[in-house]
Amino acid sequence: MKKATAVLAGAGDRGAQCYAPYAKENPWKLGFIGVAEPDRAKREAFATEYGIAPGRCFNGFDELFEQPRLAEALLLCTGDRLHAAPARRAMEKGYHILLEKPMSTDAAECLELAEAAKGYDKTFILCFVLRYTEFFSSIKAAIDSGAIGAVNAILHLENIPLIDQVHAFTRGVFSETASACPIIIGHCCHDLDIISWYAGAKCARVASFGGLTHFRSENAPPGAPERCLDGCAHSGDCPYYAPNYYLTEDIGWPTSTIGTDMSFEGRLEALRTGPYGRCVYRCGNDVADNQTVIMEFENGVTATFALYPFASANARTMKIMGTKGEIRANMASNEFEIYSHLTGSRQLVKIKPSRYKYGGGDHGIMQYFTDCVLNGARGSLTSMESSLESHLIAFAAEKSRLEGVCVDVRDYVKSLTR
Ligand SMILES: NC(=O)c1ccc[n+]([C@@H]2O[C@H](COP(=O)([O-])OP(=O)(O)OC[C@H]3O[C@@H](n4cnc5c(N)ncnc54)[C@H](O)[C@@H]3O)[C@@H](O)[C@H]2O)c1
Repeated sequence: MKKATAVLAGAGDRGAQCYAPYAKENPWKLGFIGVAEPDRAKREAFATEYGIAPGRCFNGFDELFEQPRLAEALLLCTGDRLHAAPARRAMEKGYHILLEKPMSTDAAECLELAEAAKGYDKTFILCFVLRYTEFFSSIKAAIDSGAIGAVNAILHLENIPLIDQVHAFTRGVFSETASACPIIIGHCCHDLDIISWYAGAKCARVASFGGLTHFRSENAPPGAPERCLDGCAHSGDCPYYAPNYYLTEDIGWPTSTIGTDMSFEGRLEALRTGPYGRCVYRCGNDVADNQTVIMEFENGVTATFALYPFASANARTMKIMGTKGEIRANMASNEFEIYSHLTGSRQLVKIKPSRYKYGGGDHGIMQYFTDCVLNGARGSLTSMESSLESHLIAFAAEKSRLEGVCVDVRDYVKSLTR
């Protein structure tokens, strides 16, 4: 059987921990033969783990693109602001591309990249991993089967577990719009993608409310120091006290991302000097920690989305109202119920638990991507074209939130292309 070859650009959490392990499990289908990563420790760790020759380890994608195409596929798993430009260069080189979301932090650049990708004859897909989970794909299949008639309205909640909020969006790499992007674009484009997938039409109008409500300096308890380890008097009653997150026995995610030395001393040092030891009220973060979006689609479907950061567990929940029934879904319990208005029956669909993290989406997209590369398919499920809509909704929502206006999405798109 033919085996696909790949290079990883960005050996961080997503690239090295979430996608690359697929090659370990399926070595007859996919092999990494190169890595581009400026962080030496991460680069060397990845090279050792995947047996990559020193001559195929690069200091970043710039150095990689100086070479002729090295492999069939390229996984671009760099940070939010390093997606569109390297993706274009990867197209010039002729790689099959797996690109992390968001496709760009600039709306016009998203339009241009999606347009350029239309004519590209290789696989080019975006990491909207939720579409590859059995949970969300089974709900889509139920909708498409006509079980609830025509979709009329959608309610979707992204209940971000507190630990994710504090680690990623308050102390971590996604906490500042200047270096990452607004949370509605960088994170919630996943949710807006699912909503528009289920709505089955383009979005006509969007309005959004919210902002950074809690993790602000004025909410710090009296006398709280800059860092938790600087003798904070509130260590016993603060749910955000850093040592309780990172100095436990568990060195899996999120602790695995605070440094490369996972010994107790190494982690202590990371908390003393790095971003993850900072008081949550003194992080200079500015991304919203509370946001609501209301949408009207061109086929009359309306949708409400809300982002809540104080959840106990990862629990995306949905209610999809149809003309003949209703679907109520809960990702935490991994099940959904289909109610029929005609018979009053309730069918409970229990999804078999995935042995992979996050409902199997990361594994699912890697399987899909590898199969596309091996079969010469372009990949339609999360193509650039089909992934564009949710980005446009997200950018329009952010415009609405900041300017206090209801945004006509097509007028907004026209304003980008003028
Ligand atoms: N699809 C999803 O479900 C999902 C979930 C979380 C995050 N993400 C996205 O994945 C992306 C990466 O997130 P992460 O958590 O892995 O971040 P990360 O910081 O752990 O990893 C990014 C890596 O890119 C490296 N890098 C920086 N400049 C580079 C360059 N020029 N060339 C090559 N590598 C370079 C960094 O050193 C870092 O190791 C982000 O855009 C994020 O929004 C997607």
